[in-house]
Amino acid sequence: MRQRTRLDTVRIRAAREVIDPVFLDTPLYRCPALEPVLGCAVSVKLETANPVRSFKGRGTEVIASRLAGGGSRAVVCASAGNLGQALAWSGRGRGLDVTVVASRFAPAAKLDRIRALGARLELVDGDFDTARERAAAIARHGGVRLVEDSLDLETCEGAATIGLELVDGPGGAPPPFDAVLVALGGGAMATGVGHVVKALAPGVEVICVQPLGAPAMTYSWRRRQVVTTDTTDTIADGVAGRCPIPAVLDDLLVVADDAVLVREESITAGMRLLLHHAGLVVEPSAALGVAAVLEDRDRFAGRHVVTIVCGSNVDVDAYHRWVGAAPAGQV
Ligand SMILES: Cc1ncc(COP(=O)(O)O)c(C=O)c1O
Repeated sequence: MRQRTRLDTVRIRAAREVIDPVFLDTPLYRCPALEPVLGCAVSVKLETANPVRSFKGRGTEVIASRLAGGGSRAVVCASAGNLGQALAWSGRGRGLDVTVVASRFAPAAKLDRIRALGARLELVDGDFDTARERAAAIARHGGVRLVEDSLDLETCEGAATIGLELVDGPGGAPPPFDAVLVALGGGAMATGVGHVVKALAPGVEVICVQPLGAPAMTYSWRRRQVVTTDTTDTIADGVAGRCPIPAVLDDLLVVADDAVLVREESITAGMRLLLHHAGLVVEPSAALGVAAVLEDRDRFAGRHVVTIVCGSNVDVDAYHRWVGAAPAGQV
């Protein structure tokens, strides 16, 4: 096993320089209204108040700025929806020719925004991993640059700038929280944020969270080798992968202190809490951190956690169904 990740803190600081400021220095604040119900101090890092409503713009800005400076102007990626939207946004501003491959079962809101931002959208009948295969084939045959989320360092470096904002306290003060909860999909965010946290604030626990219905990366982290699954079954579409990337797993093994799995009811309860107690509309993947606290209050009691609220692209009808269906007696 490697002792170091593929990432480098100096390069991550440099990445900040090429990211549109609209994605940077996002709000980080204590959220006292969430605390009685979660039983611990809670801070929110809000990654939804930007033109693509997710953190993925940080990484696509790094990719697009490097591409715009070079020869190739055509780029293709597979996406669960948010990377594609972000790449379309970053590419549009720089005159890139962007193709996004996605599952036809992805949320319509995400697919519509990808088209609206001017990218070519190709839909596949399968899931995200089927889209990955198709994007790779397009890149091979068309001589187009393939962006592979979480494998391409730019995607991790962009997400890692969230980590800098978490730990670069005023006057070099240590961060006030002792655990960071990160939604885990392909792993760009967890490895990026984890790298920075372990480099600059090693005492802070890095806890990755996945749905029980899409556990491949968590199983892989626990067994220290790639474990794939045949299917996924979760509303958290942003993190629903079946085939972890070995190099990303190796990075995750270096920086993650834990990887936990949460139930679907906890994800919807987390979305509901964020709406009712923080005024935040979030997509399921962005509620994973709160779901993890709900499932293990004893672990977090008396501690201060920060949860990265990483996306808010939802189909409105589905959102209402999820947040409206509270079991009796619960918020
Ligand atoms: C809202 C949201 N949360 C979490 C993730 C997972 O991030 P990563 O693939 O970097 O692990 C994604 C990925 O697209 C996402 O869109």
